[in-house]
Order: sequence, then C-alpha cells, then structure tokens
Amino acid sequence: MEQTTLFGPICQVATMDGIPLKGSIPDDKLPKIHRAGILIKDGLIEEIGVYAEMHKRITANTKTIALQEDFVCLPGFVDAHTHICFAGSRAEDYAKRNAGKTYLEIAEEGGGIWDTVTQTRNASKTALIEGIIERAKKHLSNGVTTIEIKSGYGLSVKEELKMLEAIKEADEQFPVDFISTCLAAHITPKDFKGSPEAYLKIISEELLPLIRERNLSNRVDAFIEKGAFNETQIIPYLEKAKELGFLLTIHADQFSTGGSKLAVEFNALSADHLEVSTDKEIDLLAQSNVISVALPGASLGLGCGFTPARKILDAGGALAIASDHNPGSAPMGDLLSEAAILGSMEKLSNAEVLSAITFRAAAALNLRDRGVLKKGFLADLSFFPTSNLNEIFYHQGGLKPKMIVKNGKVIYEQN
Ligand code: NIG
Ligand code: FE
Repeated sequence: MEQTTLFGPICQVATMDGIPLKGSIPDDKLPKIHRAGILIKDGLIEEIGVYAEMHKRITANTKTIALQEDFVCLPGFVDAHTHICFAGSRAEDYAKRNAGKTYLEIAEEGGGIWDTVTQTRNASKTALIEGIIERAKKHLSNGVTTIEIKSGYGLSVKEELKMLEAIKEADEQFPVDFISTCLAAHITPKDFKGSPEAYLKIISEELLPLIRERNLSNRVDAFIEKGAFNETQIIPYLEKAKELGFLLTIHADQFSTGGSKLAVEFNALSADHLEVSTDKEIDLLAQSNVISVALPGASLGLGCGFTPARKILDAGGALAIASDHNPGSAPMGDLLSEAAILGSMEKLSNAEVLSAITFRAAAALNLRDRGVLKKGFLADLSFFPTSNLNEIFYHQGGLKPKMIVKNGKVIYEQN
C-alpha cells in the first residue's frame, strides 16, 4: 500500500476551488475549509476535508503531521514573470532615476538592460546558477513554489543558451519549479552590426530551433516598446516562434500601448506590465483568453503608476500578479508585499489578490495542475502562522509562512 501523509488540523484552508479564471471576486466567494485536513499521496492532494473525520479513517500507511499551532494554508504561490537569472546590480540606475532621469534615458546612455547584458555575459554559468538559487530562496520564504524565469540578458545565440541552461540546471538543483522563457527579443544588442529586423531574423533562425532541440524552453517573450521592438518588427519573429511550437507572452503597454493588441492577435498566454493600458486595451484583453499580468514591483522600482488592475477585473479580464524581479526596474523581488500593495492601491479584494498569485498566475504559464487545493492537484502548500487569512494581506508581506510543502514534501521551515 502506498504511503500517505495527513497534515492538520489547519485553522483555515483557502482552496480556490470553483473560482472562475476571469472577472472580479468578492471576498465572500473565497472557498474556505475550517479545521481542515489535507491528505497527500505521491506529491498530489488525495483528499481535503474536515480533519477530525479524516483522522478517524487513517491507516497504518498514513503518516500524520500534527500541527501544534494555528495556521492558514494557501496554495503555493506562482510568480509568473521574473528575470532572476542575471549578474550585477543596477543600484546606480535606481539612484539616477530618483534624481530625475527616465528608464528610457538611462538605457539610451548605455545603462539599463545593456549594462546587465554586459555583466551577465561576463558571468560563468555556475555564477548564474548560484544567483538564481539565492534569489529563489528569498521567493520561497514568501511562499512561492513556482517561478517563471526569463533569459534576455545574453542577446546572442551562445549567451542566451548559457542563460537557459543555467535556469534548467538551477531547476534540477532546487525544489521550487522553474519555468523558463526565451526573451532574446528583449532589445537589439548594442554590439550587433545590423538592424533590429536582422537581429530578430538570426535569433529566430538560429536560436529558437536549438532551444526546441535541446528542450530548454517552450516559451517565447518579446519586449514591445520604444527602444526595444515595434509591432512591425516583431510580427515575423512571433510567427516563427509560433510555427516552432512556442507558447507566447508579451511585455506590453509598459510605457506606450501596442503590445497588448499584438498579444491578443497572437493568442499569447499573457500580456505583462500594462501600466499605460487604456480602456480600449483593457476591453480587448478582457474579451480574449490572454491573462493580464500586473507587475507592481516594476511600478515601485520605477516610481510610476500601477497597472489598472481594478478596471481589468471589472471589465471581466483575468488578472495575475507577478514580481518581475530583475536588477533594473524591479529589484525588490517580494511577490507577497507587491501583490498586497497593489491590492491596497487598486482596491482589490483579498480573494482577487490571492487568485492572481495562485491559479490565475498558473494559467498564465499554461499550468493547470497547481494553484488550487483539490484532489489531483500538486500538493504545493504554504502555512502562515495565523488563524485568519485577512492577516496575511494586512501585513503586506510582513507575515511570512512558517512551513512550505512542495510536491507533498516539507521543503522549508522557519523556527
Ligand atoms: O520587465 N521591460 C523590460 N524588461 C524588464 C526590465 C529589465 C531590466 O530593466 O533589466 C521589465 O521591466
Ligand atoms: Fe519583465
């Protein structure tokens, strides 16, 4: 007989079960089980219900993890947009921005993304792996059990492969799941002798097939923005990526609109940023299957407005929230604080914030096996030391989980 593990009793479990992928969610629609037990088998949830009843039915093959204090259990969080594979710091950019320069001005002067590209190219793959794991540990301490990680600081065939290999090897060394995305279309590298179109042609013909062949990623991202790529330039690249079987996601509407329309036209999984999206873009996204991903960490890092998350939900859109953790625009890398702050600034219910970092974020990564606590889903769980779910968002990231379970195993405990 297979071994099973019963966790409990748990004061409150927010299962997320039955909440739709799109639209607003009042807090009273958040499904909660009180005095709950969670039975786990082979890394998956076998049963979730009332602990006292489940405990009566345990057999000799059931290990019990008896909880001695009050906990709220949530699905492990999913951070659907990060750039945590990088070397170096951009503290100087941050200081310059706060002294009055814009993100795009700093980039034009040779700072910005290109500075991180230089430092990342100079780093060994081992150093990149160490950096990823160090940052992922911090995310894990917030309850994040799945992290999307983009390339995009290599910007040549060789260096982009190095980044994607580092992400893959880091994934093998650390229990949190890493989902990689090729962001070779971040900017045209400054050392490339040719047009943005010529650069995109080379990466679509030389890099993307190698990524597929070596099974390094099945996702492609592109930065649609002034100083990066425009819609006309990127279309042939996205067509090629689609043809090769990649799933698409777009850095859209961060400083100027355009990217979200493209995301809808290409049926991308997600359109991320959306700080300057107007009602027109919001409606377009809401009528599509594209998930809107807000990145409050980038608004905080750049000192600019937040994604209109309230409007996106009210229009019937699917909202996820991710950290965008990167050395330039979003150095904080604290998803729980950022999501709670967006909730406060945009007047989101706790149910909407929680959905945006669990099953709705999982959908942005095309993962349908996590983010909800019900039979057959991954046993990815975080246990917060409180008896009331509202305390978690109220503390805006100050209340950390005490125990985290990934695929049914305890991988983190804070004493
Ligand atoms: O999502 N907007 C473009 N890319 C990243 C920033 C990368 C960087 O500044 O290093 C972002 O904000
Ligand atoms: Fe980003």
